[in-house]
Amino acid sequence: MAKYKVGIIGTGRPWRTEGARGSGLSHVHANGYRESADCELVAAADLVQENVDSFCHEHHIAHGYTDYKEMLEKEDLDIVSIAVWRPMHTPMIVDAARAGVKAIHCEKPMAHTWANAKQQVAVCKEHGVQLTFNHQNRFVPGHRKAKALLDAGAIGQPLQIIATGSDLFEVGTHWMDLMFFMNNDVPAKWVIGQIDAGKVGRFRMPIPEVGQAVSFFQFENGVYGQVNAKGGAWDRGMHGDFPGMDAYVRVIGTEGIIDAGVLNGPECRMLGKETGGVWKDFTFPYSAESYGEKVFQAAENLNVNLPGHQWQTTMPWIAQIAANIFDLVDALNTGREPECSGDKALRSAEVAFATYESSRRRGVVNLPLDVDDNAFITMLEEGVVKQEQAEQ
Ligand SMILES: NC(=O)c1ccc[n+]([C@@H]2O[C@H](COP(=O)([O-])OP(=O)(O)OC[C@H]3O[C@@H](n4cnc5c(N)ncnc54)[C@H](O)[C@@H]3O)[C@@H](O)[C@H]2O)c1
Repeated sequence: MAKYKVGIIGTGRPWRTEGARGSGLSHVHANGYRESADCELVAAADLVQENVDSFCHEHHIAHGYTDYKEMLEKEDLDIVSIAVWRPMHTPMIVDAARAGVKAIHCEKPMAHTWANAKQQVAVCKEHGVQLTFNHQNRFVPGHRKAKALLDAGAIGQPLQIIATGSDLFEVGTHWMDLMFFMNNDVPAKWVIGQIDAGKVGRFRMPIPEVGQAVSFFQFENGVYGQVNAKGGAWDRGMHGDFPGMDAYVRVIGTEGIIDAGVLNGPECRMLGKETGGVWKDFTFPYSAESYGEKVFQAAENLNVNLPGHQWQTTMPWIAQIAANIFDLVDALNTGREPECSGDKALRSAEVAFATYESSRRRGVVNLPLDVDDNAFITMLEEGVVKQEQAEQ
């Protein structure tokens, strides 16, 4: 089989290197494709010439562009990976789908508005393109263990899923997506929520996000979901500011509790009848045994291939992102739904946009969501809510 020709949009600069403004996710994506036997990296694009030049040099990519549209036109790409900030996701997905690629892999969170999110999925369906998002938390070994325990009925019937995070959507999308993973990707049917714009933090990303929020919703199978968000991502880390509430995603069942991701704790733990009423930890050290040889080696090779970079402290994260890329390539080969499909991403995105809308409406929002904007952004633009600058 001929290899899939891969092009990357938004090369950035590697995390913590000189001039880096973000995480340089493109390098981690590139690593996944480079380690996939079915792919070859052929092109990359970034607005900044210097960024694309050094990216192509480091990843041995033949063709660099400063205009992604030119790349789509000139290269006969099979897979496009998008690693830019969310306002650009939709035009890039639409352009790549129309250019005739087979698959598009895009960074989270999905989109800037609900209309954009729906359009991304619709356009890809129309053109027969596989669409995936980088919700890599589905590949954390402990999170998969939590799901396996739930599926085996270890805590009886799930009643409620609670997530705690630093914000609602920019980073919170990871935990919201994981809530849907835990509940078999069943859609939600109503949402009530409230947001506080909070302050623009010191390390604030170039995207407005809430400072604090709560979202309460019900999945169509009756399970309740609750998201507690506080802190502002990057100021407080992924978990937000919840001393004492240390689980990222907690599932409460009729016979016990399972936590997926514990701050400074195990990736999975369970308390219930089966554990004699005490917490039992399931630990997954970063290793070939936890991740599987292929994924583990792919992560390790990033350090080999990009010497001098500072990815070492984030190796499990690198492995999860590689696992997601291997999954989307396998889905492309077999025609099955990928783990992080656009359809699945839509479900958690809808809850996030419905939470903003509930705050604007001061009421319950029944789904499907019937407004197309991002109510939080609209309220900011209209001056209905305001964000102050945090103290430096
Ligand atoms: N999955 C994760 O764990 C994770 C972690 C961090 C960031 N992210 C997400 O990744 C995305 C990118 O973040 P980052 O920190 O890697 O970004 P970054 O700032 O490191 O790089 C983005 C690059 O995109 C380029 N760019 C912007 N507009 C462009 C255009 N029109 N054409 C071509 N290039 C363009 C910029 O020049 C920049 O070099 C964001 O959506 C962010 O939320 C995901």
